[in-house]
Amino acid sequence: MGKTTIALIGPGAIGATVAAWLAQSPDLALTLCARTPVDRLEIETPGGVITAEPEVLTDPAEAEPVDWVLVCTKAYDVAGAAKWLEHLVGPATRVAVLQNGVEHVARFAPFVPVERIVPAVVDISAERSAPGRVLQRMNGTILVPAGADGEAFAALFEHTPIDVRTTVNFTTALFRKLTVNCAGGVCGIVNKPNGIAREPGIADFMLALAEECVAVGRAEGATLDDDLAASVVRGYQNTAPDSINSLHADRMAGRPMEIDARHGIIVRLGEKHGIPTPMNRLAVALLNAVQ
Ligand SMILES: NC(=O)c1ccc[n+]([C@@H]2O[C@H](COP(=O)([O-])OP(=O)(O)OC[C@H]3O[C@@H](n4cnc5c(N)ncnc54)[C@H](OP(=O)(O)O)[C@@H]3O)[C@@H](O)[C@H]2O)c1
Repeated sequence: MGKTTIALIGPGAIGATVAAWLAQSPDLALTLCARTPVDRLEIETPGGVITAEPEVLTDPAEAEPVDWVLVCTKAYDVAGAAKWLEHLVGPATRVAVLQNGVEHVARFAPFVPVERIVPAVVDISAERSAPGRVLQRMNGTILVPAGADGEAFAALFEHTPIDVRTTVNFTTALFRKLTVNCAGGVCGIVNKPNGIAREPGIADFMLALAEECVAVGRAEGATLDDDLAASVVRGYQNTAPDSINSLHADRMAGRPMEIDARHGIIVRLGEKHGIPTPMNRLAVALLNAVQ
């Protein structure tokens, strides 16, 4: 049997990390679809440095259909990713979306048949210092929906220390992660690493954001513990104080932030369900003001 072909769109912090790990398997043929050229991947993982030199394309017109596409761009870079999908998606291609937020499928439904989209909740902390150079702070997990495509996606990672698993309650996984992400928006607002959560007033703001997310998540069908919002805040307080979440990394790098995917969506879902979300509305306003 030939190698499984994979094209990864967006070799940034998450994309480069995932790509470098996938490239360690002799059974996978990996192509990077990059906006900014990448010469090689060098990832400082929890277990040591790994490197890889996969094929790199920067022109979508050069791309050809593959077995799997992994979309690792920011949620707001859908249009750029779609240009690659035009060339990468054949009749049997499956498209995994490794992004934050809860709208993975809706974002790509205009470009790919929905039954071939595999949404993925990524819990890997990764920071990019230069193209292809990333600090992966933990092995992390990736959750995908239960089913044949989810199992096939997880199998791509069997040789890696990343814990890739299927879950029957993917909606719950989506909103658990969104709860973490919306609390972390405060770091982007105040432009301080995650350790700022140790300040009591900041912790209160994070808690209020997270509680709104829990409320809308439950309305959307997620099963979320009463303690989730508080435990998310404790997580920020206990993490490495200098660690930087991806929204804050975007602010520092002068890139657009995922304001809508991480806060705007909570406001919109709050309106849909009649749930007040003043703190996330405030976060949207403040992040837009500093962007
Ligand atoms: N970083 C984390 O710790 C983390 C953890 C969990 C989930 N996430 C989520 O994972 C997703 C990716 O985040 P990230 O931190 O990896 O972002 P990132 O470092 O900004 O990487 C995004 C990559 O997409 C590339 N890109 C943008 N438009 C493109 C196009 N048209 N064609 C090809 N590549 C394109 C960017 O290119 P350039 O090099 O030109 O910028 C960049 O390399 C986000 O939804 C984020 O919220 C991140």
